[in-house]
Formats: sequence, structure tokens, C-alpha cells
Amino acid sequence: MCGIVGYVGSRRVVPVILEGLRKLEYRGYDSAGIVYYQDSKLIKYRCEGKLSALEALIDDAIIAPSHIGLGHTRWATHGAPTTENAHPHTDCTGELVLVHNGIIENYHSLRLELQAKGHVFKSQTDTEVLVHLIEDYLENDLVAAVQQALTRVEGSYAFGLFWAQMPDTLIAVRKHSPLVLGVDESGAGYIASDIPALLPYTNQVIFLEDGEMAVIKENDMQVFDSVSGNRVQKEATTITWNAAMAEKAGYKHFMLKEIFEQPMAIRNTISGRINPETGEVTLAEINLSDEDFCNIDRIFLVACGTSWHTALVAKYWIEKYAKIPVDVDIASEFRYRNLLINDRVLTISISQSGETADTLAGIRLAKQLGSKVITICNVVGSTMTREADGTVYTHAGPEIGVASTKAFTSQLAAFFLFTIFLGEKRGTLETEKKLELAAALIDIARVIEELLPVLQEQIAQLIEGYYDCSDFLFVGRGVNFPIALEGALKLKEISYIHAEGYAAGELKHGPIALIDNKMPVLAIAPQDDLYQKTISNVEEIKARQGRIILIGTEGDKHLNTITDAIIYLPKVHDEMNPILYTIPAQLLSYEIATMRGCDVDQPRNLAKSVTVE
Ligand code: M6R
Repeated sequence: MCGIVGYVGSRRVVPVILEGLRKLEYRGYDSAGIVYYQDSKLIKYRCEGKLSALEALIDDAIIAPSHIGLGHTRWATHGAPTTENAHPHTDCTGELVLVHNGIIENYHSLRLELQAKGHVFKSQTDTEVLVHLIEDYLENDLVAAVQQALTRVEGSYAFGLFWAQMPDTLIAVRKHSPLVLGVDESGAGYIASDIPALLPYTNQVIFLEDGEMAVIKENDMQVFDSVSGNRVQKEATTITWNAAMAEKAGYKHFMLKEIFEQPMAIRNTISGRINPETGEVTLAEINLSDEDFCNIDRIFLVACGTSWHTALVAKYWIEKYAKIPVDVDIASEFRYRNLLINDRVLTISISQSGETADTLAGIRLAKQLGSKVITICNVVGSTMTREADGTVYTHAGPEIGVASTKAFTSQLAAFFLFTIFLGEKRGTLETEKKLELAAALIDIARVIEELLPVLQEQIAQLIEGYYDCSDFLFVGRGVNFPIALEGALKLKEISYIHAEGYAAGELKHGPIALIDNKMPVLAIAPQDDLYQKTISNVEEIKARQGRIILIGTEGDKHLNTITDAIIYLPKVHDEMNPILYTIPAQLLSYEIATMRGCDVDQPRNLAKSVTVE
């Protein structure tokens, strides 16, 4: 993970880099550092902790008249989050300086080799070998030294570096870790791990591909193949996000803002893609032919974390309406199992960032085995969208809070669109059904919009009796079972309460042993076709004195006979329940976490975009 920002241009560099790092802090926040060139020397600040600690440290440097520099926020992989391990790292001369995201897998042998040659290491990081290795090859030609060093390096990396003896040039290299370049009208050049870091300055972005190296000066940016040294022509892409979209806009946390942005995110995701008169769905960037869709006999869904929960919901929808068997895999498992994949399989990755290392590896593998690949993704131009055959973008806007919220419900909306699309292509959906499903999807944003303000207040009151619990269970059935998993994930990641999600019918096969009068169980119990089954499971919990919270359908009086803790939601089409019932689970986690004083946007040990294996 880690966030990289680099700048060369005519502005004062320190504020540009700090602003960029602020936008990337979601990527890692256990230590931070910055380096810039001023008065013929490199000036470097590093510290443990969040970016605010670095800002306090550098204070006056903000006005330093420097025009080239690099910054970094770290998510530790090798070596504890200490000042010594914080980036930037320097070579033995102190003149070559580098920031890195990724993992150098053969760092240990390289380190021993370099130490034997007299290089002195000051950190425990894998990153430091990179800068010493480049130093080892460096005579006068920095680009050649980087190229030679890269032939020795195994693993994943995005790095930026510059050399005090060439203080007008930034070098940026990428392999299996994200890195984008930016250009603005003043001729300045930028590098960043993710687009939000560039948005305050430019919306003109160039995506570096794996194996490419950029040599960046003011008014001059050239990209090369890092192995052959051949020049690669690149076009800038205009990004439609703006800087304000990556701000809190008066909300206390990004997570809360993003919860409230869900109606807009869902609307943007479906807008222009579904015809309410005919139910017909158009997916412009899907890039597969009707024949491709008719030839497949199996679908594999691959994702991590919250995006994996989207996949679990999608399985129910696709099997029900498009009548194709669907396998759902956690990407880190998928990539290492014996996959029975061929050209009749369609693989779909789901990812907010489009950069998650395991998911990316999964689709690369599926492609090698002959599968067509589609990605459902929120970030335009991200690696997954460039490598997949086709993309269904979620248009949720930048998601900054580490806990995924609007990306999840937009993924669900995008998958529901895709389900209708697939059903149509394969002739498994009657027109009437298509119209019914389309109308349900089109209406859900309105329902959530009306509900949100009331719901937040109601949940804030409800959680007072629960915020100090040490454990929590979430249960649901059918298409709502993954929402129980998602609710539990949200709660544990931001409040550090131990939480588990279960299929309600599975409780009696073990977890029911946990139930006593201290154990809160949140049950998702809409009046759908599994309602009676769910209620029977809830009665079993009640019989064992579990503390039950129910989320159910407005007007369902039976729920009052079970518990006082009820969250009522409007009746919507059954297939929309996973989207609707996610909202209270998100708010409950948010309210509990804030009441416990947790940092909801940057929970401990986590990072937003998991670009290492
Ligand atoms: O960017 P991706 O959707 O590929 O990220 C996958 C997971 O890392 C992510 O959903 C993670 O589980 C979130 N922290 C959940 O809130």
C-alpha cells in the first residue's frame, strides 16, 4: 500500500507534496516522510505516526523555495513503523533518494551482496536495497543505473527517485504496484500512487504500465520501456473527478459522508445504462460480443473483503435470473487453487480500487487459462480496468474512508445491471420480469435518500446499549446472508469489536453455543420469501436469551414480540434488500466506532488499497 507523491515544477514543493500525501493517507499511515532539494542539498524529514506528525515536524519548511521533491506515507511490510524505516531512503552518499510502494521479494540476498561490497544499511526495509542497488550501478547515467538495477530486482514496486547531482529530474518506475503521472498547464510533472493526490493540481493523468519508467523534468515527461529502453508514447486521460469530491464537505468523517453519498453513487452508476420503458441495459465498456456471453457456461467471481461480499450477493442474482452457475472466490485463495477454467468461463473481478494485488493476480491467471475477464471497478484507468477485456464502472466517486461503503452499494447496483444485461443476452429474462427488476433498481436510490437522516438518528440512540460489547453476531439468509458478513466486517474493522456474520440457518450447527444474555445478535429479517425461516432462527436465539436487534420491514408487528430493538425499513423489491439493509449495518458500525472513540477513517493496521500480496 503506501502512498507516493513526487513533484517537479515551479511551485514550492513542500505544500504540493503534503497536500498530495493528505489525499493518499488512506493508503497507509504508520509513518511518513518527505525529501526536497534546496540550496544544493537534499533536506529530509521522516517520522513515526500519521502525516500530522510530519507536518508538525517540518513546520517552517513549508515555505522552502524548492522545486523538486518526493513524499511518502507508509504501511509497514518489512520493518516496524519507526523513523529509521520511514521513507525516503538514501544511498551511502546521501545524494540518491527514493520512495517505494510494494515488496522487493529478493531483498535479503541483495542486501547481503551489497553489504559485502561495503554498502551500509540504516533500516530494516526491503526498500533500502533498491536505492543501494541503483547506487551500485551509478556512474554518470542515472537512467541506465536504474535500468541495470531493475534486472536484479524481484517483486512488486512503484518507486520515485531523484539524485542531488541531477536536481531537475524525477524518475518513476512501476511494476505490479500502482503509479500515475500528472501534467498541468504550467509544465509541472507529478507522480502519485493514486489520482486523488493529483486532483488539487490537475485532472490530466497518464497511467504508467508495468515495466515502464518515466523521466520527468519541468516541461518534459518521457516514458520508456524499462527493459529495452525504447520510448513509449503515452496519452493523458482527463479525469472527471474533482478535488472537492475528495474532501469531507462538512461531515465529521469521510465514512459518514460516503454513507450519505450512496443515493448519488447508485444513481450515477445506473444512469444512462437502463431504459425504464423497456428494461434494456447498455454497458458501453463491456467489450464482449453477444456470442461471448452465449458461449459461457460458468462464471467465476473474484474479489477481496467487501468486494467479495458483493460477489456473494451477485451469485444469487446471476444464478436466479441469468441461469448460469457461479463460483465465488476470495482472490488470495483463487490464485493458488487448481482452477478448472477455460475459454467457456467468464471471470469477473470486483474491486473499488482496481489495484488490489490478489484480485489482479487472479484475473491475470484466469486470462492465461483462456477466460474472458470483466472487472467491476470504481477507478477509471486503474490496472484492473486496463487488463480486463471489459469493464463495468461503478460511478461512486472517490472513496477515501478505509471502510468501504458507497463503493459496495454501487457495486451491487452495477451487478444488478449486469444481471439484467446477461439475462437479456441469454434470453433467460421475460420482458415483464426485466421491467420489474429495472423499476426496482431505479427506485432504490430514492428510498435510501429519504431514509438516511431518520435512520442515523434512530441508530445513534439504539447503539447506546451496545457500544461497549466485546462480540457481535450478524445473521441473515439467502441474498441477505452476505449483508450479515458485510455488517460484521464493517463493525470489526472500524470499532475493533469482534464480530462474525453467519447464515441464520447455520447458527444451530455451532455458533449458537455462543449465545447468552450478553451476546448481541443483529438479524436481517425482511418480509421476503425466507422470512419465516429467518424468524424461526431468531426465535432460537431468543430462547437462549440472546440480545436481539432486528432489521425488518415497516409494519411487521410480529417483530415487537421478539425484541424492542428494531430498525424498520420500507418495503422494497426483495432483490433490493441487500442494498437497503446494508445502510443500517454501516450506520450502526459507524456510530458504535465513533462512540468508542475510534478513528473510523483510518482504522489501525489497515490501508485502503491493498497492493501487496
Ligand atoms: O479496492 P478493493 O475493492 O479491491 O478492496 C478490497 C478490500 O481490500 C476492501 O473491500 C476492504 O475489505 C475494505 N476495508 C472493507 O471495508
